Amino acid sequence: MRWFTRPAPSSRVPRKAEVLPSPNIWYYPQAYEIENRAQDVDGEIWQVLAESACWQGKDVLDVGCGDGFHLPRFAEQAKSVLGVEPHEPLVERALLRVKDLASVNVLRGCAQALPVADASVDVVHARTAYFFGPGCDPGLREAERVLRPGGVFAIVDLDVSRAPYGDWMRADLPDYDPVAVERFFAAAGFGCRRVETRWRFDDAEAMKAVLKIEFSAAVAERAIAEVLRANDSRGPVTLPVSYRVHVRRKPTGLVIPLHSASDSSSAAPRIP
Ligand SMILES: C[S@@+](CC[C@H](N)C(=O)[O-])C[C@H]1O[C@@H](n2cnc3c(N)ncnc32)[C@H](O)[C@@H]1O
Repeated sequence: MRWFTRPAPSSRVPRKAEVLPSPNIWYYPQAYEIENRAQDVDGEIWQVLAESACWQGKDVLDVGCGDGFHLPRFAEQAKSVLGVEPHEPLVERALLRVKDLASVNVLRGCAQALPVADASVDVVHARTAYFFGPGCDPGLREAERVLRPGGVFAIVDLDVSRAPYGDWMRADLPDYDPVAVERFFAAAGFGCRRVETRWRFDDAEAMKAVLKIEFSAAVAERAIAEVLRANDSRGPVTLPVSYRVHVRRKPTGLVIPLHSASDSSSAAPRIP
């Protein structure tokens, strides 16, 4: 039997305004598959996740799971894994990917209205999906709703403040403010770990195919030229890419506001 031993709220089709366009994986899923395979070849992100959001024996939810690339990896150790994804063709691709994995399911839905019961998962994971900074509060509230007390929410995203990849991103997104994004997550109670990774492609053609779906034509051309200059002309091509992993744990019990014992005027309640 798949995933459900308990009823879950039924999926509803996400409203158009709720879905953030993701042209890379929506229109170029084959190139995105190459990208996912190239990413984090040394397992640095997985290491940080294992340390801060261990999923062994746990119920895991991957929000914005795309075509489900990360679901089998979670399924190796998790009790159950659910991917939620708003774009129907990707839901179908993800279901195909996990068809032989009994503990994994995929539902159509979006971060702002998760098709998941209250307090029913231990780990919420979102990777380069929806949680990009200011504006993602509805999704943050949903993640908190579906987490059990003590559960962990881990958001993985690119570190736009770091060269070279961040420089290319900012060239295409001049209004993106990495400082404001980090401030937003800190104010929402998340810690932040920076992770230095390597992307590794079998050859230059694979690298070009991926950078072309990530950047405008002009920026892709510049990025490709820089990567080629930094690599031998034949064989595998590598590229340093930095990430942020933001982690927040849901409190296990009553939270008593901080107060100072010497401050008798403090409005915070006293511990009896
Ligand atoms: C860049 S892809 C990343 C996919 C996947 N996490 C991965 O790492 O392979 C971003 C994904 O977020 C999805 N997405 C867009 N709007 C969303 C929303 N409101 N809630 C959840 N996911 C959303 C897109 O459809 C897309 O599949």
